[in-house]
Formats: sequence, C-alpha cells, structure tokens
Amino acid sequence: MSDFAVRPITDYERRPTFDLLLQALHSPLPTDDAWARFGDSWAAPGKFGAFAADRPIGITSGFPTTIAVPGGASVSATAVDGVGVRADWTRRGVLTALMSAQLTDLAARGTTIACLHASEAVIYGRFGYGPAALSATVEVTRPARLRDGAAAGGAVRLLDPAEARDLIPVLYHRIGLHRPGMIARPEPWWPIAHDRRVTRDGGYRVAVHTGPDGDDGFALFCSVDQTTPGGPDHGPLLEVRDLHGANPEAITALWGFLLSIDLVATVRASARPADEPVAVLLADFRRARTTALEDDLWVRLVDVPAALAARAYGAAEPVVLDVADRLLPANTGRYRVGPEGAERTDAPADLQLDVDTLAMLYLGEWRATTLAHAGRITAADPATLTRADRLFTTDLRPWCGTFF
Ligand SMILES: CC(C)(COP(=O)(O)OP(=O)(O)OC[C@H]1O[C@@H](n2cnc3c(N)ncnc32)[C@H](O)[C@@H]1OP(=O)(O)O)[C@@H](O)C(=O)NCCC(=O)NCCS
Repeated sequence: MSDFAVRPITDYERRPTFDLLLQALHSPLPTDDAWARFGDSWAAPGKFGAFAADRPIGITSGFPTTIAVPGGASVSATAVDGVGVRADWTRRGVLTALMSAQLTDLAARGTTIACLHASEAVIYGRFGYGPAALSATVEVTRPARLRDGAAAGGAVRLLDPAEARDLIPVLYHRIGLHRPGMIARPEPWWPIAHDRRVTRDGGYRVAVHTGPDGDDGFALFCSVDQTTPGGPDHGPLLEVRDLHGANPEAITALWGFLLSIDLVATVRASARPADEPVAVLLADFRRARTTALEDDLWVRLVDVPAALAARAYGAAEPVVLDVADRLLPANTGRYRVGPEGAERTDAPADLQLDVDTLAMLYLGEWRATTLAHAGRITAADPATLTRADRLFTTDLRPWCGTFF
C-alpha cells in the first residue's frame, strides 16, 4: 500500500498546492496581496493533489481549452499547467500516480487531447506525451531593417497597460487558432500569464498593428539590461515575449517596428514558429540567427479515435496504424487513416507505434520515416512510411505560441 493518496484538491488546498508548485519550480512564493489578485485563477477543478498525512506533496493542474488540429478544426483539450512534487518525495512514484489519475479523469470527461510544456524532456514520454511542436529562438542584431518589398503595411501603436489588458484578449480571440497546436486562452489564463506582465510587474510594453481590416496583430516586449559589472557592454536587449498576427503582413510589420526601436543592440524572440521566415524578411539575411530549436508543445492523445478523426490528411493511400497505449488501454488498437478520415479497423497493421510517437506525428511536425529511423515506428513495408509521411504532413509547421 502506498504512503500517499491522490485525489482532486479542494478549495482550501488551492494556496498550499500553489506554493508547493512554485517551490518545486524554484520560483518565489506569492505575497498575500498577489494571491488576493490572481488566486481565483488557480481554481480547484482540474487539479489533482498527492497527500501524505493530509499535507500536499504533489500537484498536477490543468485548465480546459481547445486546440487547433491540422485541417482547421479545433478539439477539446486540457492544458496541463502546473506539475510538481515536493523535493523530499521525488522518485517515489508520486508523479506517476498523479498523471494516471489526471489522464483517467480526462478520458472519462471526454477530453480529446492533453498538452503541456515540459521542464525536462525525459519526464512525460512514459505517460504518452510526445514533443509534437517545436519552437525557435531568433536573435536579430541591430542595425537591421526589413528588405524593400517585404510586405508590411498598416500602422503600429503602443498601448498603455489598461488598454492592453482590455484589448489583447479580444485581439487574440479575433486572430484565431490558425496553426495546428495553437490553443484558446480561457479567461483564467490572462491574469496569471498576461496582465501581471503588462500592468504590475512593469517593464513590458505592448504594440498593436492595424491593417486594412482593423487591429490584427500584437507584440509584448521588454528591455533587458545586459551589462555586467566589469564585463563587456553588449547593449540593451529587446526581449519579445508574445507576438501574434492574423496574417503575414501584420507579423512582418511588428518585426519591422521592433527592429526600429532606438538604442537596442539585439532583438530576441523565443518560442517562435519554427518556419517563421525572419531572416528572409531582412535586407541583410545574416542579421538574424536561429539560436535554438527546441521542443515546445508536448501532446497526449487522450481519445485516440476522436483525435485521429478530427484532423485532415494529405493525399496518399491509407495506412493502418497499430497503436499501443499502456496507460489508457481503450486507445490500443488498429486505425485506418487516409484522406477520407480515420476509423478503427480489423485490417492488418502497416505501422506499429506507441501513443507518444503518434502524438509526434499528429500535429505534422515529424515524418514517419524519421521516427522509424529513430526506432519509434516499426514498418513491415518501408513504402507505408512514405505514405504516412504524405498523410500526416501539414502546410504550416505546428506551433502553440501560448505559454502556460
Ligand atoms: C518532475 C517531477 C514532477 C517528477 O516527480 P516524481 O514524483 O519524482 O516522479 P516519479 O517518481 O513518478 O517518476 C516516474 C519515473 O520518471 C522518472 N523521472 C521523473 N522525473 C525525472 C526527471 N526530472 N529526470 C529523470 N527522470 C525522471 C523517474 O526516475 C521514474 O522512472 P522509473 O519509472 O524508471 O523509476 C519532480 O521531480 C519535480 O517536481 N521536479 C521539479 C518541478 C518540475 O520539473 N515539474 C515539471 C514541470 S513541467
């Protein structure tokens, strides 16, 4: 019998579990004032705690949202936004018990997909999550300007914090989920992840782009002093946190604006789409460098048949996938996937894979051929891998673009 129990947390346990999470993540605890402002956003529903002698020793938290899948549809999702185990209880199966409880609960509620950003890449594969979308960090050394002919019309203006708090949620919603992997930002997301930065912590400024149809893009950015006592003076860095546009022109214009800000040595944007063409927008291609390409969104298909049926597929002969899911065995089975859709089948399997590998294929980032080379997919006939490549490929690379 285990010496701890896992159950949903109660309202009274919101603050201690939040503190536990922040300690596990080495972050400062909120003051009472800060908790009074945003504590309501850390609601009890959707959170499981592990308790020993009634004291919390672990937490997993998630909020309901929707996620865009290839082809333009959106499906129900849970964004897993807070996972931590008290340091004196790690490596004793607490997270394993929490993940199992959370995924079983999500499956019972009919959630199609769970997703998260992982602190470490070795944690979540065992629970069926795969790194389904990558993101890039791009650094542009100034002076740099857009090349003549880069489409960047319209106007950019700076908002004051109160305007930003009111307008940006509306604008994000209007921009819409136009890439696989983008998620809706529900109401409780904003106080913790956005308002704090623009209205209280200070430092962040918000630029909005207006195109022919009105406001259609925004960027959050702040200046970072790079001087170190006695060290070289690298000049101020402009850190871009959140940049979204309804169309390429809005995104280009926002980049143009950020690069035009005086007294800045470098503009750095992290968590950008892996295929955002910053270098080719510039007059001098070499001013932009991709300094990192990393796992961004980890996806877990909670309801494999619903997830497979929700996305669109490219033109190729169907393939039969034999999927294994140890934690949610109802997903285990064979699925015929083709341009007409996806459904369960008794036909013989072409490809065998675990559910975490299926997640890597699902949003279109990874090719079946590559995953087979990595030993993640077994194929009786290599030609079926090429067919799977064509079926699962997407025009745009997936991207989440929301930190949680
Ligand atoms: C990551 C964390 C939640 C893991 O919790 P835990 O209770 O120790 O995990 P478990 O004991 O259930 O471990 C399950 C398995 O994963 C492995 N594992 C878990 N975390 C790991 C890590 N950080 N590095 C390597 N392996 C890890 C364990 O060794 C174990 O492997 P095994 O089944 O082969 O024995 C915990 O270490 C923690 O709170 N870390 C700091 C905060 C953090 O990173 N949170 C995640 C935010 S996304």
